[in-house]
Amino acid sequence: MDIFYPKKRRIMQLLILAVLTVFFAITPAAQADMVQVGEPIVTPGWDLSLPSIAETYKDYFMIGNVMSTYQTTDGELTAMYKHHYNLVTAENDMKPQYLSPVKGLYYFINADTLIRWAEANNIKVHGHTLVWHSQSAAWLTTGADGNPLTRAEARANMEEYITNVAGHFRGKVISWDVVNEAFADGSGLPADWKDALRKDSPWYLAYENGADQSKGESGADYIYDAFVFTRLTDPEATLFYNDYNETDSWKREAMAMMAEELNAKWKTDKRNTQPDRLLIEVLGMQAHYWTASLNVYAVEAAITRFIKAGVKVAVTELDIPYGSWTNQHSTPLTEEEELLQARLYAQLFKVYKQYAPHIERVSFWGKADSQSWRAKGSPLLFDRTFAAKQAYYAVIDPEGFLRANP
Ligand code: G3I
Repeated sequence: MDIFYPKKRRIMQLLILAVLTVFFAITPAAQADMVQVGEPIVTPGWDLSLPSIAETYKDYFMIGNVMSTYQTTDGELTAMYKHHYNLVTAENDMKPQYLSPVKGLYYFINADTLIRWAEANNIKVHGHTLVWHSQSAAWLTTGADGNPLTRAEARANMEEYITNVAGHFRGKVISWDVVNEAFADGSGLPADWKDALRKDSPWYLAYENGADQSKGESGADYIYDAFVFTRLTDPEATLFYNDYNETDSWKREAMAMMAEELNAKWKTDKRNTQPDRLLIEVLGMQAHYWTASLNVYAVEAAITRFIKAGVKVAVTELDIPYGSWTNQHSTPLTEEEELLQARLYAQLFKVYKQYAPHIERVSFWGKADSQSWRAKGSPLLFDRTFAAKQAYYAVIDPEGFLRANP
């Protein structure tokens, strides 16, 4: 074996060293996505002989997921989607940044493609999202100098935007996330929900600029306006407020108090022609959880608080990556980890079923672990090869799953 000649051996050593250096320089996340040595290469494929999730829950609530326009040409994905889901949310294509990047310009082509795909496949569409501090063009709220527009300017822009967008999709969407994530991160239990708002939201800042405090005006007023403009533009659509960490006691209180106050205000608003109908009809629980911190009792507490506020509840963006915010996971799940995650899915769906008359729908935020915004934590029901995980079986039969896996 001539590799034992010193010079060649040195070259081999250097080569091996180079390969190892490259391998360890790759992030753990990327390694997690790489095929392991000895692992068979599996071409991802959906198994449509599995029971449909939507069919399983047809007597309880709708079952949704997300799509992006570029995925609509994928026939196998479409067949899977029709099999398991009856509602779709655009993961990104209906966000303000994409629909109207510049004042006066509306770019509906991608969203319209997604809507046509949904119509062709008999899938309902939920609009996401009209008013948000993130992924929104500056023209709505901020001047060329970077300073907030005045309250009056921002209000006029909001009315223009919502009239155009909700008007364009009227009759095509069944519901809207009218306002998304208005509350700040980490706050105490507020005496007034307005105190817990995200005060650095461009919408808040603009509405504050020119607010007459002697009349009780504040930056918070953008929320009521957004709901009213949407109701007046598309009276058929069900209107949602949508947020994350909805299981934190302060945030669930703030969300409930906001819905109670704004719904009471709408009752006596002269523009209201349907006095028996609420303005904020659904509180959306994004349900972006972690296996390490998900407390199913807190989920139930939020659902019951929202019901007490008189509104319906929707689970809008469900995923449960393994690990925690401070200790994120980045390798494929072991059997035990998958089982732990699946038990949480089962416990959640048991609670959802219990409150089904109050739950409009449950939507997942991703179709397979490899297609998730939190892919590292393997958060979904189907793995990177699109095979059903324990979590899928937990969702299909939560009670049976918990009996078998106490
Ligand atoms: O489309 C561009 C592409 O052209 C570009 O090359 C690439 C480079 O980074 O970016 C692509 O855009 C990305 C977009 O997703 C589409 O893939 C953005 O960078 C990325 O920021 C964006 O992330 C989305 C995120 O919202 C943005 O806030 C996620 O896909 C989406 O899942 C996530 O969804 C949000 C909900 O709307 C609200 N609730 C929280 C949830 C998770 O963050």
